[in-house]
Amino acid sequence: MKIQEGQESKKAGYRVPFGTVSITPKARKLINEALDTGWVTKGKYVKEFEDKFAALFGVKHGIAVSSGTDADALACAALYDLGARRGDEVLVPSLSFIATGNSVFQAGLTPVFVDVDRTTLNIDPLKIEAKITPRTRAIMPVHLMGKPADMNAVRMIAKKHNLRIIEDAAEAHGAEYHGEKVGAMGDMACFSLYAAHIVTTIEGGMILTDSDKIAEVLKSLRNHGMTGKFTFERIGFSAKMNELEAAVGLGNIDIFNDILSKRRRNMLYLIEKFRKFSKFFITLTEDSHEKLGPHAFSIIVREGAGFSKDDLVAHLEANGVDSRNLFYSMPTQCPSYAFLGYKLGDFPEAEFCSDHGTHIGIHQDIGIEQLDHVVVVVEGFLKKKGVSY
Ligand SMILES: Cc1ncc(COP(=O)(O)O)c(C=O)c1O
Repeated sequence: MKIQEGQESKKAGYRVPFGTVSITPKARKLINEALDTGWVTKGKYVKEFEDKFAALFGVKHGIAVSSGTDADALACAALYDLGARRGDEVLVPSLSFIATGNSVFQAGLTPVFVDVDRTTLNIDPLKIEAKITPRTRAIMPVHLMGKPADMNAVRMIAKKHNLRIIEDAAEAHGAEYHGEKVGAMGDMACFSLYAAHIVTTIEGGMILTDSDKIAEVLKSLRNHGMTGKFTFERIGFSAKMNELEAAVGLGNIDIFNDILSKRRRNMLYLIEKFRKFSKFFITLTEDSHEKLGPHAFSIIVREGAGFSKDDLVAHLEANGVDSRNLFYSMPTQCPSYAFLGYKLGDFPEAEFCSDHGTHIGIHQDIGIEQLDHVVVVVEGFLKKKGVSY
């Protein structure tokens, strides 16, 4: 089944909307079947979806959960079965969607933040080792916007210090790194299946692991820590996926390659088109060792550009281009983390990305004509600002 080229989003008001969701005829059929049989909680569609999702990435086990945040939190909680104690530390990049940091707290562990590199948006490997303490148990790199983190460096450090790796691949379905699939490079990998992502169940998440032992722990964790019939072995979550969500996911798996190639085409098109604006903006690149699994297109206004990110965003929004801030430095720009006692300036790269960055949609329902509109809008903005490129 093919998805429509350039299909306008249902979201009113935006010519270039941020997100979309593909619900296929097969998904509708499976949803109706599940409703007709009356079996809508976790069942055969969830199992089929887990197996097919894991097979996409060449990983042995898929454990479907309620959200990407639950995926991250359960993966962290699985560390207790691998020797971690409450309060132990997990290294995370300072720039990410807040769920990355929250999930570590939700698991009863402590996030320790490592600054990022503004050109990749990912954890800066040169800054990781300084943050390792005797209580560090894992590194959780995030492949932000679908750009793979520097996994060779991460793996080298993890091996040296005997740390586990949990990939936060929420935004990077289908990305590749030196020929390896993102999501198959650590002890566990976590995906968000929220509506804006490549494979979606509307709300949902998935954890992948090659380890039989970890898979069993994760299954128990998603179901209140239960093993067998009403035996509670660990402190668990209530984080199961239901059949209706899995049906949407199964429909998406059928068109995974089509969605991915549309998003890749859109991302690479904008990267190329934005080259002429490089004096003003930092955008991601796709380097020869990698393939992006695009989530969205980030635009960071360079220092000395002569205008602010807020000016740019106001112009984009006024011209029908939906946008989101390029996240925040979790420890220093999110009020919920103020109690940790960090101060502005502690994570300069993440803070820079947040203060100067935004991101816009490049999803499968956006066509070339809409991307050309983005380029014309940016040209118009720069002209208004009286700067030449
Ligand atoms: C990097 C990252 N991690 C985790 C999540 C959490 O996923 P969810 O919204 O499905 O809980 C997201 C959300 O998109 C994300 O972008």
